[in-house]
Amino acid sequence: MSVLCIHGGTPLEGELMVQGAKNSVLPILAACLLAREPVTLYNCPKLTDVAAALDILEQLGCRTLREGHTVWVDPRLACATVVTEERMRAMRSSIIFLGPMLARMGEAHMTYPGGCELGPRPIDLHLKALRTLGCQVTEEGCAIHATGHPAGGEVHLALPSVGATENAMLCAVGAGGDTTITNAAREPEIVALQEFLNTLGAKVQGAGSSVISVEGGRRLGGGSFTVMGDRIVAATLLSAVAAAGGRVRLRGTDWRQVSTVLTVFHQAGCRVDSRRDSVALARDPHRPLRGVPTIRTAPYPGFPTDAQAPVMAALAAGQGRTLFVETMFDSRYRHVEQLQRMGADITTAGQVALVRGVPRLHGGRVEATDLRGGGALAVAALGAEGESTLAGLHHVDRGYEQLEQVLQGLGAKVHRVEALPEEAHCAQ
Ligand code: UD1
Repeated sequence: MSVLCIHGGTPLEGELMVQGAKNSVLPILAACLLAREPVTLYNCPKLTDVAAALDILEQLGCRTLREGHTVWVDPRLACATVVTEERMRAMRSSIIFLGPMLARMGEAHMTYPGGCELGPRPIDLHLKALRTLGCQVTEEGCAIHATGHPAGGEVHLALPSVGATENAMLCAVGAGGDTTITNAAREPEIVALQEFLNTLGAKVQGAGSSVISVEGGRRLGGGSFTVMGDRIVAATLLSAVAAAGGRVRLRGTDWRQVSTVLTVFHQAGCRVDSRRDSVALARDPHRPLRGVPTIRTAPYPGFPTDAQAPVMAALAAGQGRTLFVETMFDSRYRHVEQLQRMGADITTAGQVALVRGVPRLHGGRVEATDLRGGGALAVAALGAEGESTLAGLHHVDRGYEQLEQVLQGLGAKVHRVEALPEEAHCAQ
């Protein structure tokens, strides 16, 4: 077990390139199953979720190779039809292999996926979309058995689910006929998936809007593609600067993708400088953050649910109140109890959390219980007085690549310590 030791109160300064996006590379790796020639992916983050996706590709018969941030996938011999329970449990996104497996193999057997515990996370919309495309999907306890080559069709999603949109797109690209997906999710990662599929020779249009059309029956080749910057990692780092003070410029991220987060910190008293391919945030460490109008999470282009915890961690120290309304997932306030251990004054009731700013958080022994909650605790610790110990790093490492090194590069006092559970503190 390892922990992060974070000595708070040092303003962050500097400039950095934001890592490649986890939520973009995962569906792109699943899409590699549809390719008939090798694929090269650049800017591929080193994350345990990415390793889990590569494991699934290997299990299905692909060859994969990683060198630094470049990943090579040779899908020519992919033919297996089973993803084992162990691999399905490794991350929830494993479900996005279902659509491309049906498109390529006409058969897929897997179990319900695992991943972060954010309350019930059903996959009914995924399965309904694949049935609409002409596949037979049966559920037996935790097992999913799906057969039949997709024909194409009219898929209407009851909710603009990111994963269900991706699964439907990936299945539809290998379908015999054409497909239209309505009420599709509009996240930038969906636009990137369209661009990747079209690079391989697919014809997908409309991503970024609510209606996506896919021309079926095209044979995909191979190609190379650069993974977009991670807007949630960017939002976490912006929260860290807001919490600790200082000035940081993030490169490799499109400011429009984090504009809702920038607006919040601007209202809270930070200075924002947005350029075409970079964004800078500055806060005077002697001037406290102010509470802001209600933050309500929503599908893109609304305020991202994944940024709720890190932004809350920053606003927990400051003046005034902020009300959060989490509309996307249940149980997405599990970081609150940990923030309270650091002196935060936060009350939750169902979907709502009321943050009353306190002058300063203090260091504490805290544990990440999910990925973005872990990012939030790092943010809180960077702004807090004294030292914090952050455990539960297996959650953090799913989505933040070498977080301690990134923060050290900005001048933060943070290091990773290997420790037995009972010794997990930061004796200096
Ligand atoms: C993706 C992101 C995740 C982010 C979320 C919302 C990835 C790998 N993960 O997750 O980081 O927090 O979008 O922006 O990209 N729903 C159903 N039935 C379904 C599917 C979803 O009811 O079959 C509901 C969910 O319970 C949730 C809402 O739809 O309330 C949105 O979920 P969804 O967009 O599917 O999230 P993910 O794709 O799992």
